[in-house]
Amino acid sequence: MYILAIETSCDETAASVASGKGNDLKIISNVVSSQINIHKKYGGVIPELAAREHVINIIPVIDEALALAKIKKQDAAKKLSAIAVTIGPGLITSLMVGVETAKTLAYAWKLPIVAVNHIEGHIYSNFINNKKISFPAIILTVSGGHTQLVLLKSHLNYKTIGETRDDAAGEAFDKAAQLLGLGYPGGPIVSKQADKFSGKHTIHALPRPMLESKDYDFSFSGLKTALLYATQKDNNFKKKVSEYAFEFQEAVVDVLTSKTIRAAKEFKVKSVFLSGGVSANKRLREKLATEVKKIGLEFAVPEFQYTTDNAAMIASAGYFKFKAKKTIPWQKIKVDPNLEL
Ligand code: KG4
Ligand code: ZN
Repeated sequence: MYILAIETSCDETAASVASGKGNDLKIISNVVSSQINIHKKYGGVIPELAAREHVINIIPVIDEALALAKIKKQDAAKKLSAIAVTIGPGLITSLMVGVETAKTLAYAWKLPIVAVNHIEGHIYSNFINNKKISFPAIILTVSGGHTQLVLLKSHLNYKTIGETRDDAAGEAFDKAAQLLGLGYPGGPIVSKQADKFSGKHTIHALPRPMLESKDYDFSFSGLKTALLYATQKDNNFKKKVSEYAFEFQEAVVDVLTSKTIRAAKEFKVKSVFLSGGVSANKRLREKLATEVKKIGLEFAVPEFQYTTDNAAMIASAGYFKFKAKKTIPWQKIKVDPNLEL
């Protein structure tokens, strides 16, 4: 069966066509139109501008995803089995563009809709290309808006066991980049700077927030304040930007890795996986992989192209939900900017 997926929850307009059979899910097309260049000058996403861009791009992006999958518009109603769309969490006006488009196509093509939670999409980026993952699993989802530890007992059976109490991990990277004068979005630039650092690591200025707390929650807002104070005190800081970036990345990676491993042990899972925009971070991928291996569990991480926001991950979650008969008619679909897992 073929599924068309649409994702517009933040600043990426994305569409994907996937085919599924049993537990085998293959991505046929994955089109992402990024708005980074528009929001860059403001240092963050401007919701009104994001929604306007989605309105301009949504049809061309869907058109391209269908064309790459060699599905002609006149055959789409026959070839597709469902339309999957992100209904939340995210920016309300951005979500509305994707959802209204999905509704219209579902109405015209007489197709059911699969409503997908954006975080569920990130989690399911790990099931693309028939990855066999043993349950139960612990998933760490780290993005610009979320930092969440989820226990997945079986397909679509989620239990959130911990989350951030303030800033998300990606948001912390973005703020650190701003403080270090590196630009936007922060994650990739901070990690590039950190990679440049070689030599002895002498700056140990940052805390590892909530590392020792008994729960599985996180807190990242104190890190940027600690980074601000440390750089203000250091007259030589401009020459040491890459070491500060390194120390910052280490602090975030230490906390994320340590809590994920503790959760994996406590919940006696068989596998651990990583997802979300920050899962593109090489240091985090490597460190978590090493630590998971040490305790003898399976580790999965999405391919780079499926880490930051995309519609292939929505197609993946959408396919498994379709298989579980979780479809709804277009009349019933609603956006929810605060949707929980
Ligand atoms: O999942 P995503 O594309 O959007 C949300 O759902 O929020 O995640 C975007 C976040 C941004 O904060 C960005 O700075 C971060 O992911 N990010 C990274 C890296 N690439 C993207 N953070 C750390 N290292 C990276 N290489
Ligand atoms: Zn995301």
